[in-house]
Amino acid sequence: MLSYTVYSEAGGVGKTSLTANIACAHARAGLDVLVIPLDPQDGNLSRLFDVDDARSDSSADSLVRHLVDNPGGNFDDLIRTGEGIDIIPEHNTLSDLSDHLAREKSRAEDFGDAYNIYAQLRRVLAENDIPDRYDVLICDPPATESDHLYNAIYATRNLLIPFEPSAKGEASVEGLEELATNFAGELNIDVGVLGAVPIEFKGTKDQNEIVEEVPFEVPEVIGDRTSMMEGCWRHQCSAFEFVRTHRSRRRDYEVETLAKFDRIARFLETQGGITAPSPPEPGALDDPEEVTI
Ligand SMILES: Nc1ncnc2c1ncn2[C@@H]1O[C@H](COP(=O)(O)OP(=O)(O)O)[C@@H](O)[C@H]1O
Ligand SMILES: [Mg+2]
Repeated sequence: MLSYTVYSEAGGVGKTSLTANIACAHARAGLDVLVIPLDPQDGNLSRLFDVDDARSDSSADSLVRHLVDNPGGNFDDLIRTGEGIDIIPEHNTLSDLSDHLAREKSRAEDFGDAYNIYAQLRRVLAENDIPDRYDVLICDPPATESDHLYNAIYATRNLLIPFEPSAKGEASVEGLEELATNFAGELNIDVGVLGAVPIEFKGTKDQNEIVEEVPFEVPEVIGDRTSMMEGCWRHQCSAFEFVRTHRSRRRDYEVETLAKFDRIARFLETQGGITAPSPPEPGALDDPEEVTI
């Protein structure tokens, strides 16, 4: 299984939008994809795919309950599907994850047992055979140093880093490398950076220089696609679905951005040593507009 966490130190960079669209790109190439968004705040990936209806239902089972070994049902019943992607929707209990984990740790230690707060997502995924059942696992944690982030990294062991191609963004990429290295050292695990993706890249000389200096592979740059991305959030769908069904005409630059999502997915699959069974032509949208008679 290819597994990675999409992480940037700054919020609002376009992390969730990128995660959603790369997940779609893996899925439309025939891979089984599970996405685990872990953001306690509203307006995130499960909102984008319109699977967040039980978010504030306190009687609903949630991933957090499974993480603290107090499940309210079968793990599989947490999974929802949107655009061919399996998603474990965010639930409001994610806000209290740290308190719950700390309580579990102190309970375990009362009995002399070791307890790793950061290893709980990995444990739940292993117990439910996720590594055998899916080809790709992607986590979308919040942009803060948190138990959510550390559980995501511990479970996936790889990072994909979206960043703003500015001096500030460059500093945050460097900070991230340090964070990943320190964390990996502390927990005695290896964490790899699969790549970094500049978002809202405008191609200025300064930006080109920054991209060249980033110490990771940059498979593609994503331009400023405010209108397309806003459309995705408005219609609660991926950019593929937005261009396919909500645009009255095709815009080349938008289709090219879809092609970039496809190519980033192929790049990551190669990094992870997996091969998609049916990769489409990058950016191809299988619909009547493209059928020639
Ligand atoms: N390539 C892009 N160009 C322009 N705006 C973008 C792009 N990607 C995302 N956005 C916009 O940026 C805002 C934050 O996106 P989001 O994916 O929620 O970021 P994050 O998860 O990093 O907070 C949203 O309004 C989204 O529409
Ligand atoms: Mg987000």
